[in-house]
This record gives sequence, C-alpha cells and structure tokens, in this order.
Amino acid sequence: MSAELINGRDLAQELRNQMKDEVIALKKDGVTPHLTVVLVGDNPASRSYVKGKEKASAEVGIQSKVIELPGTVSEEELLQLINELNDNNSVHGILVQLPLPKHIQEQKVIETISPSKDVDGFHPVNIGRMMTGQDTFLPCTPFGIMTMLHSKDISIEGKHAVIIGRSNIVGKPIGQLLLNENATVTYCHSKTKNLKEFTTKADILIVAVGRPNVINEEHVKEGSVVIDVGINRLQDGSLTGDVDFDSVVEKASHITPVPRGVGPMTIAMLLHNTIKAAKGLT
Ligand code: GUN
Repeated sequence: MSAELINGRDLAQELRNQMKDEVIALKKDGVTPHLTVVLVGDNPASRSYVKGKEKASAEVGIQSKVIELPGTVSEEELLQLINELNDNNSVHGILVQLPLPKHIQEQKVIETISPSKDVDGFHPVNIGRMMTGQDTFLPCTPFGIMTMLHSKDISIEGKHAVIIGRSNIVGKPIGQLLLNENATVTYCHSKTKNLKEFTTKADILIVAVGRPNVINEEHVKEGSVVIDVGINRLQDGSLTGDVDFDSVVEKASHITPVPRGVGPMTIAMLLHNTIKAAKGLT
C-alpha cells in the first residue's frame, strides 16, 4: 500500500488564502502587519529563503522589508539595528536569518529581539512559554509540522514520536510540541547507537538531519507517519529530503514529500506569527 501524501504546498496555500482575509480586516482597523527581515552576508541558501518569505508576505498583504548587511558587519551594529526595530512601533515582526557569520554570537542576537516581535519563536522567553504550554510564537518549522499532522486528523495522544535531530530550530521544539499533545517522545541524534532500534518503534517519525537517504524502508514501522524536514540540494540542482521517499512511501501511512512538504509550511507559519504580532497577541 502506498502512503497518503501530506502536501505542504497546498495546505500552505489554503492557509495563505485565509490569512489574506485576516490582513484585510486588520487593515480596515488601520493596522498593516509589517515584517522586517535582516539578512547578513551573501549565503545563497539564506538569500533564497528570504526571497520566499518576501514573496509569501506580499501575497497575503503583509508589508515586508529586507535589510541587507555585509558579512563584515559588527555584532554591535547588528544589535543596535535590532534595538531600533524593537523601538519602531510600525514593525510587528523581526526575523534575523540564520546562520550568522562566525564573529557574531547568534544567541546574543536572538535574545536582543523583543519577545513580542520574535516571530521565529527563538527567544528563550518564548521557548519557555512553549515548554509550559502557554500561548506564544511557536517556532515556524515545528508549528508547520503540527499543523500538517492536525490537517490529516493524525492522532498524537499516546503515540510514540521519534525525532531524529536535536537542533534548537527543529528537533528540540517539535519534540516539545508533540509532548504538549501527550505523545511519548524519543530524541535520537548523531551519537545515538542503533538508530533503527528506535525508528522502527515510531508511530510518528520526524527526520531533521540534513543529509539525504538517512532513513529507508528498513527504518520505519508499517503504517507509521513520516515527516521529512530535510531540504538537501543535489549536484544536479534538484531538492531532496532526508528520507528515501520511494521506499518509505510503500510502508508508511502518511508521508511528506520534498519539495512541497514541510518547507512551504515553515513560511506560512511565519506569516501567521507576523499577523499574531500585529494583533498584539503576545
Ligand atoms: N535559517 C534556517 N531556518 C531558519 C528559520 O526558521 N529562521 C531563521 N531566522 N533563520 C533560519
């Protein structure tokens, strides 16, 4: 049997259509949601992600501005810019595209963004709120994954979720969000021994490693839900995930493709968070 696809591109489009109406209503009240994105240096992948965020913002009527800084900018200058954006009442959301050049401490930058404008959900105050189950800005990729699971009415309570990857952006927070909905959560990572022993027990398998073909049909349980967070560019320029899609699709009950999977959902949730910020909800 072939798995049902969870198409993130279509779901993200549906969400953007709903958000257009929300933005129109906000504009009637005199509020135009505004997102400022800060791009430091000339990392081509970062540039491409930022372009995607600009395009999606424009589609739903969110005003976006990209501030480009050279890779040589000092940490002090960047922090000063963030403080100015924090003080600017017309800016609702601030996103500093990661990674940053090595001479800039990312954590310091994240902690300088006002928690009420932290549409990435990376500030420790927002992470703390997420961990304690309070309403806050949720990190966009994990939030997108949860929205995909909910869209298919996939039950989470009591299910064994196995996460591969422990990054602050994806692995750690997706485990927390699944735990908040009463899943039993196991984290695997680069030092995990016998990965298969864990992955074959997963009802929900989240793969966020950043390497193609880490997971094949031998790693997954029949009927499991497989979420592929990887976006890997191959030599020929095409995109592929972390999961060997062609073999796993025959064994899973649901699977996300790459492209058209988690990627578009990440951007949709950023727009959602920006609208939430404009409404002054956190
Ligand atoms: N780099 C890769 N993913 C992200 C993200 O979700 N937010 C930011 N700010 N940088 C990223």
